[in-house]
Amino acid sequence: MDLGIKGAAVVVAGGAAGIGRAIAREFAQEGANIALLDINPAVAATADEISVDYGVKSVSIVADLTDYETVLSAAAQVKESLGGSSHVIFAAGAGSGKFGFPFWNLDPSDWPRILNINLIAAVNTAHAFGPLLIDKGESSLLFISSIAGQIGSQTDPPYSAAKAGLINFAMCAAKDFAAHGVRVNTVCPGMIKTDLNRSVWKAWFDSQPPEQQLDYDSWGALKVKQVAPLGRWQEPEEIGAMAVFLASKNARNITGQTINVDGGQVMHW
Ligand SMILES: NC(=O)c1ccc[n+]([C@@H]2O[C@H](COP(=O)([O-])OP(=O)(O)OC[C@H]3O[C@@H](n4cnc5c(N)ncnc54)[C@H](O)[C@@H]3O)[C@@H](O)[C@H]2O)c1
Repeated sequence: MDLGIKGAAVVVAGGAAGIGRAIAREFAQEGANIALLDINPAVAATADEISVDYGVKSVSIVADLTDYETVLSAAAQVKESLGGSSHVIFAAGAGSGKFGFPFWNLDPSDWPRILNINLIAAVNTAHAFGPLLIDKGESSLLFISSIAGQIGSQTDPPYSAAKAGLINFAMCAAKDFAAHGVRVNTVCPGMIKTDLNRSVWKAWFDSQPPEQQLDYDSWGALKVKQVAPLGRWQEPEEIGAMAVFLASKNARNITGQTINVDGGQVMHW
């Protein structure tokens, strides 16, 4: 099936590892050229690996997405190297590293860094790349949020609040961009084995008495069974496949939507 992705310029912000890396690989498999942005210098190796594996152009930019001037400069570099961008996926994120249940386990001073990474960095990306997306037309912006932003998850309150803010901002942006041919959607994963997910387990683990501590795999297996009707972890490639679909011409009538890829954890009825 021709998805209309071949040769497109695709930006993945937070693309060095985990879900962002998997998203970039799914787009590259469809023949897209890729620009990866990440604060982690390992992003260069991820970009190289993608061009070797799929024979597409793949560039990397080391960037702290919480800094607007840096993101503006990254957008200019993407324009120079890929001739613009048709699809931008924001997949960066981080947790507080603390067990936030109850919320007063955290201090108010724990909040700004987490809001900056999970929400303000996404706003920076929308501002900086908006003109490139408008230039291309028939383009799209996708935010990777989390089901934590929909359920008052008792794990990491600033993370959950930032993710809820991101879902709402995506709807505002979808309305503003619609007349310019840019669609905006949000994908919410449930539980995926990545560094970020492992840090959620570690914060829980450190807060438990020794007799209640479980290793990562046992904790995850128990939790997934309890919370996900389909009873299994999600895979990063499943988020990648949804991201490709939402960028594709098959999704040309989809904007302002929040799509959960979560094994059925969140159902509204
Ligand atoms: N893993 C899960 O279970 C899960 C569940 C729901 C949502 N998510 C979301 O998926 C997205 C990807 O997370 P992941 O699980 O792949 O985690 P990850 O830690 O593997 O990847 C996050 C990436 O973001 C980058 N990053 C962090 N701060 C940055 C900054 N200031 N500037 C630029 N890059 C920065 C990291 O270097 C890393 O490459 C995040 O938005 C996360 O909140 C993950």
